[in-house]
Amino acid sequence: MKRQNIVILGTGGTIAGRAVSTSDNIGYTAAQVGIDQLVAAIPAVGDAGPVLIEQVAQIDSKDMSFTVWAQLAGRVNHFLARPDVQGIVITHGTDTLEETAYFLQRVCQPGKPVVLTCAMRPATALAPDGPQNLLDALSVARQPGAQGVVAVCAGTIHSALDVQKVHTYQLDAFSSGDAGPLGYVEEGAVRLLRNWPLAIEGRAKVAINHIADLARLTEWPRVEIVMSYAGASGMVVEALLTQGVQGLVVAATGNGTLHHALEAALLKAQASGIKVVRATRCLNGRVLPKPGDTLPDSNGLSPVKARVDLLLRLLD
Ligand code: SIN
Repeated sequence: MKRQNIVILGTGGTIAGRAVSTSDNIGYTAAQVGIDQLVAAIPAVGDAGPVLIEQVAQIDSKDMSFTVWAQLAGRVNHFLARPDVQGIVITHGTDTLEETAYFLQRVCQPGKPVVLTCAMRPATALAPDGPQNLLDALSVARQPGAQGVVAVCAGTIHSALDVQKVHTYQLDAFSSGDAGPLGYVEEGAVRLLRNWPLAIEGRAKVAINHIADLARLTEWPRVEIVMSYAGASGMVVEALLTQGVQGLVVAATGNGTLHHALEAALLKAQASGIKVVRATRCLNGRVLPKPGDTLPDSNGLSPVKARVDLLLRLLD
């Protein structure tokens, strides 16, 4: 039987980064090496079956934009619909990988695997981590039964719903928090610990059926993140309201608590029709709702993912 394709979509990041010196792991420029070159440098890529390669973007992921998200979602949906495609691997910068992963899971709801991978060291490093991460991602994309958007880094598989970058430098830079990883990739074999992200999550499916609608959008809803901290005030919220913000996510302290001055401003914003969501700035755990809460919680989503969720709800 003819083996199905894995599509590799390049978007840039450190995995495609270039430094002047091989011993420099931080003074590089991200998004310099084309996806075709990255793949060509790893002869084992084609061992398990054919791959199709496409450069969708070439950016440092700190500069991720709605335009690139719409393009990427469009290409993902295009390839997912092809019967000759088993799964998709996306090379991406680590800095906003978790936002793109969550966005794609919500918008594309893939019934096939969509595997984001990355690197903490540039392609020019003495010992780059990108090639192994890419090979591991391919193993996950070829895994029978795999589905949904996941991230693969340092031999660990994370669900798009839980993954978060937690380290600035180490190669194992991601965590799934107290949910734990989805599994591991060991010498090309996938060891699964829990279920793949479901095609339709528990929360309401966002009714964005035509990705083209996203690509045509010239203005996405304006959703910003504010944070609660010692000495916080309502000033930032008030300034954002004058700028026409439509949604606010607050990275609250602990179990969703807010400085009283910030809370007063957020309640005023909510009363005026702005959507406000409370996430926590804690790395682990979620905001546990309790009777009498006046601001809705993020349903376990981190602040950046709660922002994506609110964006999509406002788009809907
Ligand atoms: C980026 O996010 O594009 C640069 C940083 C990285 O990939 O580690």
